[in-house]
Amino acid sequence: MNNQSEPTILAIETSCDETSAAVVRGTQMLSNVIYSQLDLHAKYGGVVPSIARTAHQEKLPGIVEQAVEQSGIEFDSIDYVAVTQGPGLAIALEVGISHAKELATKLGVPVIGINHMEGHLVSVLNEVDQLQINFPVLGLLISGGHTEFILVKELGSYQKVATTLDDACGEAFDKAAVMLGLGYPGGPAISKAAAVARDRMSIVVEKDQQSTLVRASVENDTERKYELPIPMLNSGDLNMSYSGLKTAVKHLINSLSGNSDLRNIRQTAESGELTQEQVEEISVVFEEAATEQIARKLKSAIKKYPETKEVWMGGGVVANKTLRAKINSIVSDRNLELRLPADNVLAADNAGMIGIAAALKVQRSDWKDGQDMDRKPGLSF
Ligand code: KG4
Ligand code: ZN
Repeated sequence: MNNQSEPTILAIETSCDETSAAVVRGTQMLSNVIYSQLDLHAKYGGVVPSIARTAHQEKLPGIVEQAVEQSGIEFDSIDYVAVTQGPGLAIALEVGISHAKELATKLGVPVIGINHMEGHLVSVLNEVDQLQINFPVLGLLISGGHTEFILVKELGSYQKVATTLDDACGEAFDKAAVMLGLGYPGGPAISKAAAVARDRMSIVVEKDQQSTLVRASVENDTERKYELPIPMLNSGDLNMSYSGLKTAVKHLINSLSGNSDLRNIRQTAESGELTQEQVEEISVVFEEAATEQIARKLKSAIKKYPETKEVWMGGGVVANKTLRAKINSIVSDRNLELRLPADNVLAADNAGMIGIAAALKVQRSDWKDGQDMDRKPGLSF
């Protein structure tokens, strides 16, 4: 598989709130250094682009040095520089792109622009023998910025077959967590709160006239009952949506807290109007509705593309255990192969996955020096 004759690539990722650099040789990661800006953005309940840019500018040169040092290689053995060119925050991407160009010029090597979503897609291929892959593959990319299904006929041949029409799945977790007073980032906080309450709840998914609902109640307590919709199940296509679920969470919190002022919802849980138990139980119902939408759409996608042999999952929300369990059971019932990132570091934003994407592009001669390096708005598959 990988050996010294494979190209050595320095990769850079600055699309959002992680400043990251990695060194790969072929698809083997020699280092993957990440500086997370979470603490800088936490008090705003989301990423502030100008703060992200400044932090990238301050941290990136040092992170690159660390990545090279930890990889055990010297700067002069780098064959290519790879960098995320989009999609992402324009002013954050620019920091990585200009640093990558500078480095490539200094080292006298080409610079390869990488699509961030292709990075998430191939994040499952760290040290995977390509001969073992069976195409076509359905790639589920589920992050804070995107919720997409990609049909992969072969590496480099991508067709987006489903997308969210509004918020991304991770974004919905983040927004629901703010409403519940659980802080940012919301995904890990909601799954932690939900894990506490899951065992005391009974959950059913039921159809009423217009919609499909998650109904949950606490055993032996008829008062503690919750209901949230799973959007888009009757849309007749594979697309997803999260804004209706978010609004339903708002209404649920309002009705439980007796506070009908939607604008004040951010303070509802923080001001103690919900009990800790209610926060945990709403987390269970939300997590169930958010992940069930993806699971059911995956079932429909496999029906629509019955030639599918493998399912790959990439993006930060892959860390969610409820989602993984649902996808795992769908995939194994159908005798398909499931590939996941080796760990949560490779699932979330990181330069390692950008390096892997670049290595695979070099292998298939699918790149041009500096091509499309200037970010294109909305660049995606
Ligand atoms: O891939 P990623 O690091 O960044 C983007 O490209 O967006 O994904 C970050 C997203 C955040 O919205 C975060 O709340 C979510 O992934 N996330 C989770 C979990 N861990 C991270 N969502 C649900 N459950 C989790 N355990
Ligand atoms: Zn991402």
